[in-house]
Amino acid sequence: MWESRPSLRARYPAIQSSCYALIRRLKHTDDRSAFHSGDVDLDRFFYCFAGQNQFRHHIGTTYVAVSSERIHGFVTVSPGELAATSVKQPTRANLPGYPLPILRLSRLAVDQRDRGKGVGRLLLRTALGLALDLRDRLGCTGIVVDAKPSALGFFEVLGFLRLDSETAGLTDRPVPVPLFLPVQAIADALGP
Ligand SMILES: CC(C)(COP(=O)(O)OP(=O)(O)OC[C@H]1O[C@@H](n2cnc3c(N)ncnc32)[C@H](O)[C@@H]1OP(=O)(O)O)[C@@H](O)C(=O)NCCC(=O)NCCS
Repeated sequence: MWESRPSLRARYPAIQSSCYALIRRLKHTDDRSAFHSGDVDLDRFFYCFAGQNQFRHHIGTTYVAVSSERIHGFVTVSPGELAATSVKQPTRANLPGYPLPILRLSRLAVDQRDRGKGVGRLLLRTALGLALDLRDRLGCTGIVVDAKPSALGFFEVLGFLRLDSETAGLTDRPVPVPLFLPVQAIADALGP
């Protein structure tokens, strides 16, 4: 099960209260070239694909953490679905067996200069708010992220649970770990 309401809520301070950055949707006019997460794939996605995915293909929306200086981080989300069987008990109890609507957190990165200052948590909090909005408007059972092994601690400290996964095999790259944050935990974390 997820953490109790007060302890999880304490990990998600009110938006803007702990950080210098404002969160908003990516604009056509944003200069993305000065952003450097240190992860080649994430940076390439941000420079080359985040804009066209949002403005032309409508397959994902990117939110950026900005100050007057520059972009400090981004998160990309899209609606998705999750096989009910991949959710472990007891979280799975009472859920139907057909595919569950979710919000997929497909990319998250913070500029190397801004790590450890709460920007990642602020971006994640924005995604949590979007999941609640989706729950109310269309239906949403939680957030799913395929986490890089190096970022597992970040998500798990913020309440994410491991999903049953069949991803394995021979690969040179670290295998992402699918994680889930149930919508009830999100509601508890953000409060009424
Ligand atoms: C993972 C990432 C987004 C975290 O962003 P950040 O702004 O540095 O994180 P925050 O400052 O908001 O940290 C929030 C909490 O998570 C912890 N944390 C941050 N990164 C962590 C990590 N890699 N492992 C374990 N804990 C981590 C922080 O210590 C903090 O906990 P605290 O409040 O108890 O001190 C950032 O390190 C990053 O961009 N990494 C490279 C790209 C990446 O791995 N993205 C995730 C793809 S799935």
